[in-house]
Amino acid sequence: MIRQLLLRRFETLTHPQRLGLDPVMEARASELFRRPFVMLHLISEVYAARVALALALDLGWEGRLRIGATLETLVEGLHPQSKDPARWMLAFMAQEGLLERQGASYRLAGSPDLDLEALRSLAETEAPGHTANLDLFDALRRRIPPFFTDGLRGEDLLFGLELFPLWLQYFRNENMLYRANNFLALAALRPALHPGARILELGGGAGSFAQMVAAEDPHGLADYRFTDVAPAFLRRAQRTLPDIAPGLPFSFSGLDVNRPLEDQGLAGMQFEGIVGINVLHVARDLPATLADLRAHLAPGGRLVLGECLKPALDRPIYLEFFFEFMSSFREVCLVPDLRPAYGFLTPEHWVALLRHAGFRDVVEVPPVRPLMDQFQGFNVGAFAALA
Ligand SMILES: C[S@@+](CC[C@H](N)C(=O)[O-])C[C@H]1O[C@@H](n2cnc3c(N)ncnc32)[C@H](O)[C@@H]1O
Repeated sequence: MIRQLLLRRFETLTHPQRLGLDPVMEARASELFRRPFVMLHLISEVYAARVALALALDLGWEGRLRIGATLETLVEGLHPQSKDPARWMLAFMAQEGLLERQGASYRLAGSPDLDLEALRSLAETEAPGHTANLDLFDALRRRIPPFFTDGLRGEDLLFGLELFPLWLQYFRNENMLYRANNFLALAALRPALHPGARILELGGGAGSFAQMVAAEDPHGLADYRFTDVAPAFLRRAQRTLPDIAPGLPFSFSGLDVNRPLEDQGLAGMQFEGIVGINVLHVARDLPATLADLRAHLAPGGRLVLGECLKPALDRPIYLEFFFEFMSSFREVCLVPDLRPAYGFLTPEHWVALLRHAGFRDVVEVPPVRPLMDQFQGFNVGAFAALA
């Protein structure tokens, strides 16, 4: 039944004919944003919602949800940190039609179809070998209950030994869902990849973006400085990247976007390109970090951000499910108008933040809003901004 629903949803979408990239990247993008990509998003959305409901039942919420319950009654007796993720789960399940919402009360009616296997096999048919994110949702459900019951940290539960290999499976260019993030950031960064250019990558993680840059074979870069806050990622990158991203003049160093760059070995250094993919939304004081990055760009230098994007701040998107449990995601400084909520932002918020930090020529790659209007699940984009 759910299979039919998803196929119907797919048929009713209008599919963007053009993304609006430069002609070279537009031609290359046509491979990326086709049916398997769209179907995977649709499947992931309903899969994540069903995992959220399964988790709610694991937490013993069914009795209360059957008669209708508020967030406050559901988190009674759980650790106080449960409230934000629980609020998100309820809103997401209601949005996906699994709960009925009346004012502040949520009710579970009937018996929702929780057949995750059927969804998984549909994903295998539509996009064989691209189910890394479904594996992550299953693992999330298995590992996260002590976050609610005992106050354990989400970071420890979700980035521990069991899940680390799954994250590495996810953050790869071979995973078409993730590849889109890197591809759009590459499209935004390409003008900065000229001979003599110094590039700084923030939160480089598993190194998939550096690999994509290396595959472009940019000639004569002076430096590709790969950084991350996590020593495990940095060590792994140092070990593997020279072989799997050949040709880039790598240097490696630890870098936390929450600390001034000049305190981290970059005093007086400037770059022609600074790029961060899915990292800047965790910057605690985003305007300060953006201003600091601008100060480390050479004249005319280019900041590129690849980000997961939301159509509206109050619309939950399935990718948030993991990150709701991370304190680094939730505990950030809010700024009225510029950053009114934690987590992923709308394209308009990013443009406003970059302009506010003094960047000029802020460009969306591609222009995201028209794509979102056609397909609400379009949740990836990049921004290029000149110093
Ligand atoms: C979503 S991953 C992006 C991974 C990477 N772009 C890739 O393709 O594999 C986010 C990365 O940001 C890093 N990160 C998280 N907080 C950070 C911080 N405060 N400063 C710098 N990097 C951070 C994480 O360690 C992780 O590697």
